[in-house]
Amino acid sequence: MSAKNDFHRLRVAQVRRETSDAVSILFDVPNDLADRFVFRPGQYLTLRTDIAGEDVRRNYSICASPLDGELRVVVKMLAGGTFSTFANETLKVGDEIEVLPAAGHFTALFTPDAARHYAAFAAGSGITPILSLIKTALMTEPESRFTLFYGNRMSGRVLFLEELYAIKNRYMGRLEVFHFLTMEEEDVDLFNGRLDRAKCDRILASLIDPAEVDIFFACGPEGMMEAAEQALLARGVPEDRILLERFSSAGSSTVLDEIASARAAAAAGRNMAVVLDGRKFTVPFDADQGNILDSVRKLGVPAPYACKGGVCATCRAKVVTGKVDMRLNYGLTKDELAQGYVLTCQATPSSDDVTISYDA
Ligand code: FES
Repeated sequence: MSAKNDFHRLRVAQVRRETSDAVSILFDVPNDLADRFVFRPGQYLTLRTDIAGEDVRRNYSICASPLDGELRVVVKMLAGGTFSTFANETLKVGDEIEVLPAAGHFTALFTPDAARHYAAFAAGSGITPILSLIKTALMTEPESRFTLFYGNRMSGRVLFLEELYAIKNRYMGRLEVFHFLTMEEEDVDLFNGRLDRAKCDRILASLIDPAEVDIFFACGPEGMMEAAEQALLARGVPEDRILLERFSSAGSSTVLDEIASARAAAAAGRNMAVVLDGRKFTVPFDADQGNILDSVRKLGVPAPYACKGGVCATCRAKVVTGKVDMRLNYGLTKDELAQGYVLTCQATPSSDDVTISYDA
């Protein structure tokens, strides 16, 4: 069995209101599952539940540090969001949710003898994995420090404001937080407005010397991530010192869509061999489904997925033979690509002899 793809039913131990539009959910992890739910700071969980007959899956970042001894995620309410509305309005202590063990590459290895400077750009609920990283870094590395640039609309909606103050006080002089608000005016102009490219450039010119930072993290809306990344690259920060975490992909580009539909049409009916949980299936590529994952699932084969947007990598499989094209990839590292992994929710077969394995 491919245990990495197994959901486990976890009991909700607490639903805590964090802001007017966000809750955190604490899960009870029974002793026999403790090993399965070990996580690294910055990782996320995939949650699954049935809402009005629909199988709904979403990824949420863990806000706790592994050193906190708890498994807690944050769910921010989105307009029209099925799961986020359910979590904010209906979910209660004692309910059970199916949860996949933690995943994600938005993490770093913290070691007690390191003396590093970390910095992060976060906006809105993008603070969630970064909070986990901040806590773990400061707890694990007594000589390290963290600088946070944190964008929000208004001070009343800032997630973890009090916790950040508490961390600042606990680790005197080792955490610096700069707030940027779009709907409230501050005296210093630099702190007004969103974290766009111009703002990130000014931050890097006046608040921090990027050359002194070992790792930059960024998590938030697509535009902010792009702005932070471009500003950092323009200041000569090497790519491998910038870690980005996307909650969702911009996803819909007309050009990408056109290329993907042309590829899907060309691949229609191509038979693929698909390995899952030690069994091998023959699956014809279904152009109407548009990707390998949905072609496989249409036959009733329970291939894993969560975001279907090329972000979470839950649908990852290895191409054992043949060739496969991907529409977009935000979820796989360069190493995984080199080893032949693809995101099946974004993939179409481009040769006749494709074998993919979800078990590899
Ligand atoms: S399901 Fe998330 S990347 Fe494919």
